[in-house]
Amino acid sequence: MIDIRKHFSIFDARPGLVYLDSGATALKPTSVIDAVSGYYRDLSANVGRGLYATAEETTARFEAIRERTARFLNVRADEIIFTRSTTEGINLLAYILEGRIEPGDNIVVTALEHHSNFLPWKRLAKRCGAELRVVPFEENGSIRPDTARSFVDSRTKIFAFSAISNVFGTPNDVSTIVRTAKALNPDILTVVDAAQAIGHTAVDVRELDCDFLAFSGHKMFGPTGVGILYGKSTLLAALPPYQVGGGMVFDSMADDPTYMDAPHRFEAGTPDIAAVLGLGSAITFIESIGIDRIHAHEVGLATRAVAKLRETFDDTLRILGPTDERESGIVSFTLDGIHPHDIAAILGERDVCIRAGEHCAAPLHRALSLPATARISFSVYNTKADIDRLIEKLWEVKVMFT
Ligand code: ALA
Repeated sequence: MIDIRKHFSIFDARPGLVYLDSGATALKPTSVIDAVSGYYRDLSANVGRGLYATAEETTARFEAIRERTARFLNVRADEIIFTRSTTEGINLLAYILEGRIEPGDNIVVTALEHHSNFLPWKRLAKRCGAELRVVPFEENGSIRPDTARSFVDSRTKIFAFSAISNVFGTPNDVSTIVRTAKALNPDILTVVDAAQAIGHTAVDVRELDCDFLAFSGHKMFGPTGVGILYGKSTLLAALPPYQVGGGMVFDSMADDPTYMDAPHRFEAGTPDIAAVLGLGSAITFIESIGIDRIHAHEVGLATRAVAKLRETFDDTLRILGPTDERESGIVSFTLDGIHPHDIAAILGERDVCIRAGEHCAAPLHRALSLPATARISFSVYNTKADIDRLIEKLWEVKVMFT
């Protein structure tokens, strides 16, 4: 996808850049950058308040992006809550669900989770006197689709899991997991962390049938500062607000203030308007390429990278998850005798950007008895030449430590 790179002006400024850290954040196409700066340049008004032209246009554009996002996910616009990030979406949810958890209940998460889908539930369980159950993962980096059978019972209130592990890159069978959990306990609330899935693979939320789903704009070519929390409208209608303040209340003077309906009830205060407008452009960018094409490109590069890594480094290399066909653009590995932080730092000096550490996934690393891993993650702008450069520079690292 060489032609795609022309949309990313960072490659003009940094022609030697090999960016293999899109799991952390994606690079931004010019159209997204223009949408953000265009808001400040041409509108700069608040949403949902002013009665003058720029304010009305800002509100109209902002709400149009809510509808756009809803169509992108195949849900309703009033089921889309703008947040700051995946982390904020899941924390918001854990906060508003607190009244539903009682001592003796349990919350199920998996050992694959990023801290943002682990700590909010761990804290909620502790606060409410509930048990936190942690589902182990399979060798390929996914959880068994029927895993609910061993972990869900009549006291399970929440089952939270990721669509794609940010370390293994292996997708979970979300709809089967949801269906199995609901068959065992229809009252269970299913929560999906889709941070590594949206913008990388087709996601039809209605089809997944999860109750809640969260993701960030910045991992799907959008700006930082905007995320989405999806919630089924029937559930959102019965949940209390998170933060209270402007833009979400009907009667603030009542003893018991009355609040607006979802989604506005969950969006107190001025949102990151520029970021939301940028998110709209990110969706346009994704749709202009086609999500299936993006997915095929990333999977193709990851599969090729795994083959090249194995060919070059043989049994000194450990790949997490499948060593043949990959199912996403994420690949984590270790190299014998070299700390992943050294790998990332030395590659970084050579303009090859990867991530190293626990990737905010301590439970996963503890389960594997690994202090850290090195991770490469691909996006539309990566090429086979990026893989060649990675292998070349990684070989230099190996030689330094031999
Ligand atoms: N959640 C991001 C990652 O996995 C930051 O790298």
